[in-house]
Amino acid sequence: MTKEGLHDLLEVMSLEEKVGQMNQLSGSFFNPSASVTGPIEGKKFARESISLCGSVLGLMGTKTVKKVQKEYLENHPHKIPLLFMMDVINGYKTIFPIPLAQGASFAPKLAGHCARIAAKEAAADGLHVTFSPMTDLVWDARWGRVMESTGEDPYLNGRFAEAMVKGYQGNGFDRPYAMAACVKHFAGYGAPEAGRDYNTVELSQHTLRQFYLPAYEAGIHAGAALTMASFNTLEGIPATGNLWLMREVLRKEIGFEGVLISDWSAIEEMISHGYCADRKEAALRAVMAGVDIDMMSGVYAEHLVRLVREGQVAETLIDEAVMRILKLKNNLGLFENPYPDSDENEASRLFLCQEHREFARKAARESFVLLKNDGILPLAGEKKTAFIGPYVGSQNLIGSWSLTGDVKDVTTLKKALLEQGPNQDMAFAQGSPMLDEMMDLEGFHERQKENFTPGEQEKMLKEAIDAAKRAEVVVMALGEDRLQSGEATSNANIQIPKVQQVLLEEVSKSNENVIVVLFSGRPLDIRNIVQKAKAILQVWLPGTEGARAIVDVLFGEYNPSGKLPMAFPYCVGQVPIHYNSYPTGRPHIPGKDKDRFRSKYLDIPNEPLFPFGYGLSYTCFSISPVMLSKKDMIKGGCIEASVMVKNIGSVKGTETLQLYIHDLAASVVRPVKELKGFCKVELKPGEARKVCFSITEKELRFLTGNGRVESEEGEFEVYIGNSSSTDNKARFMLGCRR
Ligand code: NOJ
Repeated sequence: MTKEGLHDLLEVMSLEEKVGQMNQLSGSFFNPSASVTGPIEGKKFARESISLCGSVLGLMGTKTVKKVQKEYLENHPHKIPLLFMMDVINGYKTIFPIPLAQGASFAPKLAGHCARIAAKEAAADGLHVTFSPMTDLVWDARWGRVMESTGEDPYLNGRFAEAMVKGYQGNGFDRPYAMAACVKHFAGYGAPEAGRDYNTVELSQHTLRQFYLPAYEAGIHAGAALTMASFNTLEGIPATGNLWLMREVLRKEIGFEGVLISDWSAIEEMISHGYCADRKEAALRAVMAGVDIDMMSGVYAEHLVRLVREGQVAETLIDEAVMRILKLKNNLGLFENPYPDSDENEASRLFLCQEHREFARKAARESFVLLKNDGILPLAGEKKTAFIGPYVGSQNLIGSWSLTGDVKDVTTLKKALLEQGPNQDMAFAQGSPMLDEMMDLEGFHERQKENFTPGEQEKMLKEAIDAAKRAEVVVMALGEDRLQSGEATSNANIQIPKVQQVLLEEVSKSNENVIVVLFSGRPLDIRNIVQKAKAILQVWLPGTEGARAIVDVLFGEYNPSGKLPMAFPYCVGQVPIHYNSYPTGRPHIPGKDKDRFRSKYLDIPNEPLFPFGYGLSYTCFSISPVMLSKKDMIKGGCIEASVMVKNIGSVKGTETLQLYIHDLAASVVRPVKELKGFCKVELKPGEARKVCFSITEKELRFLTGNGRVESEEGEFEVYIGNSSSTDNKARFMLGCRR
């Protein structure tokens, strides 16, 4: 439709119809097969608000979507099609590693391709919008939703946000398979106090701007069609009703012109926050802040018309919001064809096809992080090996947000080993339940509760110990259950379930050659595992083809290259933790100062167990000291920082070189290090390559004491290394030397 056409349409719409466009309902009001991803109890909507609502979430399937769309259009006064939205997070039917794992690949392009495949499968199944990417910065592993982020660093998250948005949307909704992306949750949702989901967020504006906003901004500037407001408050005001955040920061400063949607029931929840007295006030606050779509509160449908008629809300405000929604529908081509990519044959051809499965395997391999290796990996294949643990035979390898995927499509580790493993002499034992007794977990469509009698558990453990005794090497597949991370899964303890710790303890008493393959949706406290295992491979929740990828890595078919996108803390007492912290006035230098009055813990080190950017390989790399093309930079100039990297081991491998910068003295204190670039290099044994990064004045800018994003003259440190703990550095000056 033309621009004029859209304006003409808006002209003839009644106020009720316009408000209808701003109302989003769960698909369960249209079809019982819908996925319900938020609280629904007690939710009632007037028939009119259902028949006029502008979008639906949680419905999928070509037949269902077409039926609902057709019936809706038959009754809609101006035949404005519905938008179908869904949380397509890390894959649709072919499930990729969880976003945190994708972050570990340090390969945004790879994540972009995962998003593209997800968009193809989802669009063919009738969907138009995905609530992804989640670009929330995460520093606290207690928060279960860290699994849905790409990690602790603003720069890394920004690169992933861009790639994922472009992956979903193509170049301006390329046909076929156009899908709109939604950057979420704006803003600061990843920083709930004490890691408890939906809790208060306390961020200074400085911290918000320095650390949290850049990744949302990157996703929005990459063209994301939607942004979702977060549940939390910022400076005491819920994001959903936060005029300053939405109108000043999001719309004016960042320049977002797309559709702003609330999170599930979040407009109504402003009453529970203690910000609004009733539903009418909640509707008023949200619309004034510029929230275009009310997801599942029903307060817009209930109150907006009256608010306009009473003169409390200008109709022009409604018109602006509706125009943004109509434009989105138009950009997706829905006025010409309300079922654009929806095609049953195409869907079944695409779902889990060989090409998609192969890419899922590749993505999984690239996301694994080798945390420890005393030379025991890769497995040679001729040794008697026992595979022990609840993850050996489990299909639960997909994250909890993979609500469109099916665990039945997942290959188990045991199956993959039997198909691919070179070792003829393999034994398998479950060893223990996945979860501790009394644990009862709930997903979107499933429950996880195990009922093993003490006798059955004893038997399992004994079988595992016997298998360990007979084997030369034991590979233990352990970890958190998939439903232990995701929305509403905060944990005060971040260790694997106790029952699995006992299993590890007993097995390691019987065999000293233990390798742990660790599954989780968050960084864990793994001090105990580090003590007992000779090697640890972090595999996150690796998706449909994760098991085959694990076998590729265990037997050396693929040399692991992942790097942690989020630190593994020493213990839970350290969180929130991140490498890009501020220096403090009394910094502690481990091993170098005995001074009591230093910023340190008495009982644990300051450093995490494994820092951001860390990950080993089956080969070793040497990295030369940092070389700078100049020691001085003038504004508008450029310095090249480089290192020679050499594979000094005996197998081919990939290293990720990371560039960090530190501004030594500034009008506002700067982090001890900030990631400003990274580069993956694959090298054959003995091969060396020069890796160069260009540093311009742009990389040195920050929000200064003047309230402007600019650089300040002075001295900078440049680090290039293979993790955030690198000490390989050189210095240069910006501007004149004093
Ligand atoms: C609540 C979650 O916070 C959000 O990320 C999700 O998109 C919506 N529910 C819809 O499922």
